[in-house]
Amino acid sequence: MSVYAQGASSADSVEWKWHIHSSLPLLGDSGTRLKFVVIDKNSGINSPEFDVDGCAWYQPRDDGNHGWEREGAILLPKNIKSPGAVLIRKEPTENRASAQDYIACFELICATSKHKFPVSSWICSDHGKRVFFSGTAYLPKDTPTGMVEERKDDLNTLRGTHASRDDKRKETDRIYWYQTYNDLGTSDLSRPNLGNNKDLPYPRRIATNRGNEGDGREKAPSAGEEIWLPLDDRFGAEKNHEFNAGTVLGVVTAALTVIAEAANIKHRAPITVLPSITIGIIRTIFAKGLHCFTPPLDYFEDFEDAIAMYKKASTSVEVMLPTNIHPQGTANPGPARKLRKASSFRLADGTWDFELKKKDAAQLDNLTTEQRVPVQLGYVGPLYGSATGTPAGHSVFIKDSKPGASGKKERLGSKLWAFLNGNTPSVNNLFNFNIPRVLDSRPNAWHSDEEFGRQAVAGYNPCVIKALTELPETFGSAIREEHVIGDLQGDAMKDLVSEAKAGRKPRLYYIDYWDLSAIWALAESDPAKIVVKPKGFLGKLQNCILGRTDEGQAVQHAGRAILYLKNSVTLTSNQQNFSRSEISRDAEGNDVGLIPVAIELAHPKTHKGEDGLAPSAGHVYSRSQLSADRSTWAVWQLAKMIFKSLDSSFHQLISHWLRTHCVLEPFYIALRRQISAMHPVYKLMLPHFRYTLNINRNARGSLVNAGGLIEKSFSAGAYAMSLSSIVYGKDWNFATEALPEDLKTRGMVDANGKPWLDYPYATDGLDVWNALTSYFDKYLRLYYKCDEDVEKDAELKEWWSEVKTLGHGDLMKFGLRPGGEKQLWGFAGDITSVQQLVRVLATIAWLGSGHHAAVNFGQYDYTSFVLNAPSLVRKPMPAPGDKSWEKLKRASLGKKQEAIIMTYLSDPFTAATVAATVKLLSTHARDEQTLDEMNPHLVDPAACEANQDFIEDMKRLEQTIEMRNADSKNWARFRLAKDDTARPLPYTLLLPGSPAGVTMRGVPYSVSI
Ligand SMILES: [Fe+2]
Repeated sequence: MSVYAQGASSADSVEWKWHIHSSLPLLGDSGTRLKFVVIDKNSGINSPEFDVDGCAWYQPRDDGNHGWEREGAILLPKNIKSPGAVLIRKEPTENRASAQDYIACFELICATSKHKFPVSSWICSDHGKRVFFSGTAYLPKDTPTGMVEERKDDLNTLRGTHASRDDKRKETDRIYWYQTYNDLGTSDLSRPNLGNNKDLPYPRRIATNRGNEGDGREKAPSAGEEIWLPLDDRFGAEKNHEFNAGTVLGVVTAALTVIAEAANIKHRAPITVLPSITIGIIRTIFAKGLHCFTPPLDYFEDFEDAIAMYKKASTSVEVMLPTNIHPQGTANPGPARKLRKASSFRLADGTWDFELKKKDAAQLDNLTTEQRVPVQLGYVGPLYGSATGTPAGHSVFIKDSKPGASGKKERLGSKLWAFLNGNTPSVNNLFNFNIPRVLDSRPNAWHSDEEFGRQAVAGYNPCVIKALTELPETFGSAIREEHVIGDLQGDAMKDLVSEAKAGRKPRLYYIDYWDLSAIWALAESDPAKIVVKPKGFLGKLQNCILGRTDEGQAVQHAGRAILYLKNSVTLTSNQQNFSRSEISRDAEGNDVGLIPVAIELAHPKTHKGEDGLAPSAGHVYSRSQLSADRSTWAVWQLAKMIFKSLDSSFHQLISHWLRTHCVLEPFYIALRRQISAMHPVYKLMLPHFRYTLNINRNARGSLVNAGGLIEKSFSAGAYAMSLSSIVYGKDWNFATEALPEDLKTRGMVDANGKPWLDYPYATDGLDVWNALTSYFDKYLRLYYKCDEDVEKDAELKEWWSEVKTLGHGDLMKFGLRPGGEKQLWGFAGDITSVQQLVRVLATIAWLGSGHHAAVNFGQYDYTSFVLNAPSLVRKPMPAPGDKSWEKLKRASLGKKQEAIIMTYLSDPFTAATVAATVKLLSTHARDEQTLDEMNPHLVDPAACEANQDFIEDMKRLEQTIEMRNADSKNWARFRLAKDDTARPLPYTLLLPGSPAGVTMRGVPYSVSI
């Protein structure tokens, strides 16, 4: 193909070649309709406008990197010596309709130099000329003269004007502004707005500006309307396809609605913004009379029944069974289990089966497939519907399908929905539950005290446990010496606490979920609760026959647990029957495990009437006392399970949603508004916010909204989000979100910052943290030559100020931090040194990467299993000696006691809801960017080198973690107890890389799921 340069041919011009890289064939009704102008970085001289269509050609890239390129030649005036930016403009269609293209990168090449302009953006005809700077990073003070005004103008566009910030958003708007969480409630389900309220402070979200109702609530999106987001913040084609334009969560909800309707529990169906067409399909399914009787969804009958959730997908059920709350050999297993009747949700052998009938699932699948095709701009899908020959609905990547491959390149080629472990793309794959790793080949591990303790340091919520450095009574607890002494290997609690306070190794730890009591007062004045009462006369009769007299409501408990770090011991008699006098620490005194020794629980009625407990105290359940008697062993097990449900709630609402998804959004909004795309901080941090706005928007549509999956599945119900707001107002400090500071504050490390005990989250996490800070330090010093450079960086100053006053402004505005800015942010005023900046940015990066990965990607393998982490508690924990306590105690050991315990925990519908949801949330998308991959926004060679060093660190860390997991001394990674035969559950959640799917490993740069 011959090349003709555009522009006037003269002796004053130089020939250049240009490339446009795109992850899609450029669209448009006639070619690309793209124009561009080149600007000299020093003089600011603009070239003539060039037409991309003129004598350009394109071809798909076949080098394994996805995408397309278009290229051509131009003549640039000689006085444009060093291009600093390009202005790209998309023309509307011939009939003046809006048009858009997605551009990944633009390049200019001449005989002596090559200039890369990262774009990664949708170019829309509505935008006029868009500026894209060369990839070289500049602090504001170093901005080349010709770029100064462009830099300012670009930021101004993103900030919007005072008027446009509040205008209703148009699809192609690019305005970043703040809004409170005033979009959670509906006209039927009222929820308080979160944020800008002293009692309910909250971080801000991106303003979506649909206009407000009279009560200040943002208007609900109209039926089928996709909630606005800037185009550049929407999922890319790969991710989008998996998420059905952001609504796979909606599909889960649709499927759950089908199940709930079939089970005649319509009130249990989560609410979401379902397109009306979806609702129509659901109705069609029912019109066909899919299910005609009420299946038994009220209770799991016993533990085996709960485990039967996994039976269908399992080829080796024996690895899960037998499981029994009593130590082997001590319990009467009870009569043989009766076979359950097959029903809509059970197979003939009692196996649970929540999958929809194939033809019904196909209706939902077909619907979502149609929605995934970008028939309009709202459905962003740069891979589809091209004007250049790729058939709509067919991915250009499908041909390289390699599901499960670890490299990014292979991942991109994996088949659609393969991440759901199904051979064909179907919503049903979400309801096909594989055995979670917590159970797999560890049938008797999940209910052991050692596993309870192990999960506190290596499970799904390892960021709450603290060293006990004061006696429990000092913080209002009812736990006393007599409750724990039986388990302390000859020590006294007061001595252990004093030693820890004096700086010696703590042996006692605690987990405090007393904050969950904060919603009791809210619930008191508002009777809205999840009601799962049996319906009608038959339901009551059935319950009467089965001896179920429970209230059938969600009960939010609060609680605390004290854990003891056991030493290795020398036993002088049978291990199953030892007493304190018969044991002593062995010569090495190694730690062998962490066990709960006392659990304290309270519920809204605990402090009323006869219980007479102080408001800060609950009933105490002592391990040594309860497990000494076979009949009360079940009470201890129930206390642990109810505590684990608090753990599950706190994990989801605080450790996961609040501390990562929610708090990070305003940092990003401020970044887009105040820090230029030319800025080195912008380029460094952009990957750490990838997809965060989109996933949070989805969460507000289906998860955390009124009547959403969280409210329907967790004990906190309608108060779930208020709870996260209260905890934010009370406890959240940016300063202690830096991992080393977090560990120090919780007393989990010694004076050198080393964890006191085998604490995989901390040990592996500190390695990630140290690598991040080392990389950030090296990178930032390439640009900031001294601290004064930081202090004088005007963009940085505005960013930090806006984070503190707008994005996270409530905490200071309402005087919620007596220690002032220093308490909240670690220091007052501006960022004034490179060191300080490294700390701030690394904290944000850590929350989006390591912290989020640690609490997100283990969700399916720990929390889908209702016995390990029940999301819902339906009855109050029995108080010592009361009727329900006696009932549990008197029941025959084994199945009967299990049946009673199951009436306290999540029902099968809730369990299936949680399992399907966390399966989705634990899934790595194919286009995930993990910490072992390069930051694609860096161009400067020295910056790329620093990034490459970091990648090498991440690769080395994989080996280090593997070695730690293979070391038998590391009890939290390797075994539960001496002589234990359970399969080890290594700590893999901070291994940086991962293939697509539910892998329980992999650290993405950002919160994207
Ligand atoms: Fe997440």
